[in-house]
Amino acid sequence: MNSADIQIGTCFDLTVERPALGGDVIGTAPDGRIVFLRGAAPGDVVSAKVTAVKKKFLRAEVLQVTPGPDRSEPFCSSFGECGGCPWQSIPQETQRHAIDNTISRSILRLAQPDVEVAPTWFDDRSDWRSTTRLRWNGAQVGYFASGSHRLVDIEICPILAPPLPRMLSTVRRELIGVDGQGTVRLTAEHGEDSGTVSIELESVESYQDTSKALRRLVLEPEVHGATLRCLGRPTVSMGEPTNRLGSEQVPHPATAFVQAHQTGSRALVIDVMDHLKGARHVLELYAGSGNFTFALAGRDVRVTAVEVDKAAIGRMKREASSRKLEHLVTPVSAPAHKAPPGEYDSVLLDPPRAGAKEALPMIHRTGANRIVYVSCDPATLARDLRWLVENGWGIAYVRAYDLFPHSGHAEAVAVCRR
Ligand SMILES: C[S@@+](CC[C@H](N)C(=O)[O-])C[C@H]1O[C@@H](n2cnc3c(N)ncnc32)[C@H](O)[C@@H]1O
Repeated sequence: MNSADIQIGTCFDLTVERPALGGDVIGTAPDGRIVFLRGAAPGDVVSAKVTAVKKKFLRAEVLQVTPGPDRSEPFCSSFGECGGCPWQSIPQETQRHAIDNTISRSILRLAQPDVEVAPTWFDDRSDWRSTTRLRWNGAQVGYFASGSHRLVDIEICPILAPPLPRMLSTVRRELIGVDGQGTVRLTAEHGEDSGTVSIELESVESYQDTSKALRRLVLEPEVHGATLRCLGRPTVSMGEPTNRLGSEQVPHPATAFVQAHQTGSRALVIDVMDHLKGARHVLELYAGSGNFTFALAGRDVRVTAVEVDKAAIGRMKREASSRKLEHLVTPVSAPAHKAPPGEYDSVLLDPPRAGAKEALPMIHRTGANRIVYVSCDPATLARDLRWLVENGWGIAYVRAYDLFPHSGHAEAVAVCRR
């Protein structure tokens, strides 16, 4: 079969070779092009049907799998349908090896072969996820199917940490039948039997009915607080809509960013603190509710913490005041690239997947001689490190964190010095 014979809908067999970060696995088409697929493991022989044709690669769906010798049995009954956890059939050791390899290769590409790449951090707990974002359409609550906006109804999600499975059942009972749609976020309070629900409603017409459902939800013992947001309507909060999370027990509003892997989040904080030893004034960008901020301030380090989410900054201000740390913590409600100037010796940043491209020139202009970069996307991390290397920075340390097992995604910490 040559390239001209391969079109959308063409079928062929191939052997899966390796995982690709992002959740795919990779094989080779009969014409030599790379093929990206989902739902199979290295060593599996699959019948594949082409779904996208590009000059250098193809995408295909798996029609049938002849299992290879190294395949894991998927643990979830929605595997193959639901878009979450596409690496379930890949043994966790192979998953970590793929993360290690990708991170090391992208650093080597930056011509810094002498960088210390520490082994990937991992934890074997299977119900690791302490926060989850579901989709609700009035008739179903679930996750999107892979690469589509088709909703897969989810009653049980085995990776959810307690009490999220119970919260999911309660939310399903109260929301299915209410004629609305949006996203529903569930977050577990660390070490407690309850958590928060946050709904982003997309249909103004169902605002009243959804508020009523929320009122019923907070009467349940496993829901200690809830927030409803809807464009054009006032935000409603009920009960105690925050969770105390992370190593510093920082209050996170139900609507704000929270690390999904709480054990991993604590390991990350320790690693970051270690690499900021000796710092006196840190510019912290993408600070969230203060997961790193209060760990630094607790070590007597001044922190200027920049974050766009106003609810997160509001809680951070109150927390700084109640911990009597206002002399050390300066919360700033602004986009990262508009951080205030200051006498910083170090910069800590933890951007979303899009990375920190916009903020890099500002970071470079500060007098800081050390950058600690926490990333949830190795591709944008590599892009941003390249910019830093081209502008005179050296990479001193890199470590990947397997914070999203079975998803094909990974967190990483990189340390740069001027
Ligand atoms: C990955 S989270 C990290 C939060 C925090 N460091 C933690 O560990 O919980 C990224 C944070 O960046 C914030 N954010 C997104 N875009 C931003 C921007 N342009 N400027 C500042 N903060 C931003 C988000 O609201 C979110 O809180």
